[in-house]
Amino acid sequence: MTLQEEIASIRQEIEQKSLTTATLAEEFRLSYLSRKGIVPALFERFKEVAPESRKDVGRELNILKQLAEGKFKEAKEATESAISESSVDFDASAPGIPFPVGSRHPLRIVANELYEVFSRIGFTIAEGPEIEDEWHNFSALNFPEEHPARDMQDTFFIRSNPDIALRTHTSSVQVRMMESKKPPIRMIMPGRVYRNEAISARAHCFFHQVEGLYIDKKVSFADLKQTMLYFSKELFGSDTKIRLRPSYFPFTEPSAEMDISCTVCKGKGCNICKYTGWVEILGCGMVHPTVLTNNGIDPQEYSGFAFGMGIERIAILKYQVKDLRLFSQNDVRFLKQFSVQ
Ligand code: PHE
Repeated sequence: MTLQEEIASIRQEIEQKSLTTATLAEEFRLSYLSRKGIVPALFERFKEVAPESRKDVGRELNILKQLAEGKFKEAKEATESAISESSVDFDASAPGIPFPVGSRHPLRIVANELYEVFSRIGFTIAEGPEIEDEWHNFSALNFPEEHPARDMQDTFFIRSNPDIALRTHTSSVQVRMMESKKPPIRMIMPGRVYRNEAISARAHCFFHQVEGLYIDKKVSFADLKQTMLYFSKELFGSDTKIRLRPSYFPFTEPSAEMDISCTVCKGKGCNICKYTGWVEILGCGMVHPTVLTNNGIDPQEYSGFAFGMGIERIAILKYQVKDLRLFSQNDVRFLKQFSVQ
């Protein structure tokens, strides 16, 4: 390449550069204009130029140098004025721009409170799978073969394998704890459960439960009742009363459903408690001897109680939420209203 061709190509190169930052401008100065840079190197080669071409080449060299210097000066001024403009605008005493802080989900708030209350009386937390087999969800819990809860109407089965289903309750985790641990067992087991229900303000195809299990020597119904009373007072206030009504679950005997005195009207009667003064919050009972045997625990030596409650139900009571669907719609206007007390 002749010197003239080279000058032309460097000129093109410089024209195409865009020096948008102070660093780029400085790099440009170093590579083109500094003592060892490209432009002075071209001037060095001026000696080689034949006398008859010197006038033209000299002019081209000068144009190139001016172009490079102009480009650098312009970029420097532009980046410096950008810096000084921003420093004029910057007011160190101005309040910061707030960024949104998340809030806890109401179901998480209630679950955390439950953990807190039960951990104070020695319960630890365990979890189990949401996809379960028949054995853990039903058979080990003493559900007879023809029990309606096993029906397609209530349970989501996996089409290709009717032995596998989405768990319908957290009692399946009871089974997993009994088969893997030796008594004493004192645990609460939270999690999501699934039932084939039409979605409405009062029902959903999934919700959350907390299961409790206590197995040891000489555990009695009185222990169950006392534990339920303790937790209800802790969660809903010390004036809360409880009421146990006989009920039926295949895995507990005797079984009961538990009501608490309405937290809204304090038992006087309102539309939350349908003017009865009581609201149902959980199912419970003494672990059925067959369930203990099914899981390798000797019912002659050990006894236990179990209970299970819906977290949504407690949150609805606590916060007077009118529609169950709100818990799973992720509308921040709803979710923002709950704070940890
Ligand atoms: N598993 C029962 C339900 O889902 C609740 C329950 C748990 C009842 C433990 C008794 C003992 O309704």
